[in-house]
Amino acid sequence: MFSALARTPHHSLLFSLVIITTLFSPASADWKYKSRPDLAPPTLNITTPATSTVSPGYIFVAPYSFPGWDPPLPHGPLQPGPYIFTSSGELVWSGFGYISGYVANFQAARWKGKDVIFAFEGSLNGKKGHGHGHTTILNGSYEAIKQVRGAGSKILDVHEFQVLDERTAVVEIYRPTPFELKRFGTGPKSQWIVDAVFQDIEIDTGRLLFEWSSLDHVPPEESVYSIASLAFGTGHNSSDALDYFHINSVDRDSDHSYLVSGRHTSTIYKINGTSSAIIWRLGGKHSNFTLGPGVAFSFQHHARFISHPKSAGDDTSIEIISLFDNSGPELHSESGEYANESSGKILALNTTSWTATLLQSFPAPAGVFALSQGNTQILPNGNAFVSWGSAGAITEFSPDGTVIFHAYLESGDLWTNGNVQNYRGFRFNWTGTPHEEPAIVALTHGESTVVYVSWNGDTETVSWAFYGVDNEGREIIMGEKAREGFETSFYVWSGKEWRGFFAEAVEKDGRVTRRSKVVRKEEYVYEYVPGRDDLAYQQGFYEAPGGQGGEL
Ligand SMILES: *[C@@H]1O[C@H](CO)[C@@H](O)[C@H](O)[C@H]1NC(C)=O
Ligand SMILES: *[C@@H]1O[C@H](CO)[C@@H](O)[C@H](O)[C@H]1NC(C)=O
Ligand SMILES: *[C@@H]1O[C@H](CO)[C@@H](O)[C@H](O)[C@H]1NC(C)=O
Ligand SMILES: *[C@@H]1O[C@H](CO)[C@@H](O)[C@H](O)[C@H]1NC(C)=O
Ligand SMILES: *[C@@H]1O[C@H](CO)[C@@H](O)[C@H](O)[C@H]1NC(C)=O
Ligand SMILES: *[C@@H]1O[C@H](CO)[C@@H](O)[C@H](O)[C@H]1NC(C)=O
Ligand SMILES: *[C@@H]1O[C@H](CO)[C@@H](O)[C@H](O)[C@H]1NC(C)=O
Ligand SMILES: *[C@@H]1O[C@H](CO)[C@@H](O)[C@H](O)[C@H]1NC(C)=O
Repeated sequence: MFSALARTPHHSLLFSLVIITTLFSPASADWKYKSRPDLAPPTLNITTPATSTVSPGYIFVAPYSFPGWDPPLPHGPLQPGPYIFTSSGELVWSGFGYISGYVANFQAARWKGKDVIFAFEGSLNGKKGHGHGHTTILNGSYEAIKQVRGAGSKILDVHEFQVLDERTAVVEIYRPTPFELKRFGTGPKSQWIVDAVFQDIEIDTGRLLFEWSSLDHVPPEESVYSIASLAFGTGHNSSDALDYFHINSVDRDSDHSYLVSGRHTSTIYKINGTSSAIIWRLGGKHSNFTLGPGVAFSFQHHARFISHPKSAGDDTSIEIISLFDNSGPELHSESGEYANESSGKILALNTTSWTATLLQSFPAPAGVFALSQGNTQILPNGNAFVSWGSAGAITEFSPDGTVIFHAYLESGDLWTNGNVQNYRGFRFNWTGTPHEEPAIVALTHGESTVVYVSWNGDTETVSWAFYGVDNEGREIIMGEKAREGFETSFYVWSGKEWRGFFAEAVEKDGRVTRRSKVVRKEEYVYEYVPGRDDLAYQQGFYEAPGGQGGEL
């Protein structure tokens, strides 16, 4: 359905929506938030509502539609970008317009004693599954305070950015490198390989503290598919360099060892942060560990050090790690066997007995399979927050593996199953005090006027005080209303002529933090769409409960 205010500035918006609609399917900007007709956020289709045991904090996702697919998939979020939601699916922040292009790995972190958020901003090579760009860091008022690029003239890839010790970031690079591949049985034209590089860099200065290159330590033969199969690229040129390793996560522990995940070797590596040598391999062709029941994984993502418990007499032999096991092959599987059972996993690694034991698994709910992408975030209370990558779904589990929240990332009419993807999803605590001003509109329909106010990214406002400006210019409070969600609406009691309206944001302690601008009322109009007038009505004008005027 189309909805438009009867005034010219919105015509261009309407026009662009018409174009999108014509190309793709019946859809429109949803005008879900009357005060923000420019926003069309995805909605969470919550199929398991959050129980009381979900961890406190907000949901961080960056849904998008996968480009470069063959045939192309036109479905996905109208406005792909970074989003913050509450556990009940209420929008907190739309980062559309803040971070542009292909956005992924949206997280909160602490940097130099301050809470920040960051995301990858760049372009995605959908066919190869890697990106080119930088990471943008925003502060608590959503202002960009830093752009982080690779050290030494190397372009960052999308897969990893993790802030460590509030000071440095681990990042990685897909570096095309000339390499003689003929000896692996390829044709003579195959002469390019992707070197999987990671760096540990000081965020403030961009200074390189450590760099590791896969080609120095991991031969191409470790790839799970033979090089001759050209499953991971032809190697004919630098654009189609053979991606034998596909690095997708890096972590660091207090001993300055690194934990690295290679998707195309189906191996997790522990690396000595002094010598760069591989300390051990888990999984893949040359595992140093015997894998216990349920441990085996493939095409995994997001390996993280969890703990290194030290117990008397046997003090350094156990390491606990987590990972996201896609447990599916690349599309170009040689065997054609798909396991199709993605899960989050917590493993105990005994480096005395060299055995790996499954401590806990967080299996995908029925029908969800992450062919690519995904992550497993172990929360402070032991819950696990899992993003099912290419399946476009998120789940929170209690420590014993019980599903206590599940949602699909939808995008209104454009959504169809499987076409919304989300590289990683997280839960974080966050305080947002936006620099941008609150948005307000007063819409009139017949005798009724309703004022709508929202403040993109604000986490602190608990109620809104609504004011009218009368014909003498006096500012008169009409009422205060508890915050309803992203947007709060206020029904104006008719019977008085108001020249304008504004609202004030009120915090928990009663403090007023921001005043909106003053707006005049305007006529609410919705366009008739054949067969859709019911929907237009539903999404349209706010009706005062029982026909009674609101909050006086
Ligand atoms: C939510 O997702 C479920 C499971 O995929 C689906 O059956 C249902 O139709 C979806 N709900 C909406 C409103 O699209
Ligand atoms: C964010 O950065 C801007 C620009 O440096 C600054 O004015 C603002 O106070 C910062 N906000 C927070 C919450 O730190
Ligand atoms: C690189 O090689 C691939 C495979 O032969 C080919 O399809 C592609 O067009 C080449 N790209 C460039 C930029 O030469
Ligand atoms: C890491 O390498 C350094 C330098 O070669 C060595 O002294 C240290 O023992 C190694 N650490 C581990 C855990 O292998
Ligand atoms: C791991 O296995 C390799 C052989 O695959 C072996 O050379 C290496 O010594 C083993 N590492 C450890 C720490 O046992
Ligand atoms: C996994 O999915 C693929 C593709 O849909 C199918 O061919 C295969 O049989 C499935 N494998 C299992 C073990 O269910
Ligand atoms: C690790 O393995 C060794 C050798 O089998 C064993 O003695 C030790 O108890 C194991 N540690 C744990 C914590 O299970
Ligand atoms: C958020 O903060 C609360 C209170 O400190 C804590 O219990 C919870 O674990 C935090 N949530 C996350 C996701 O870190």
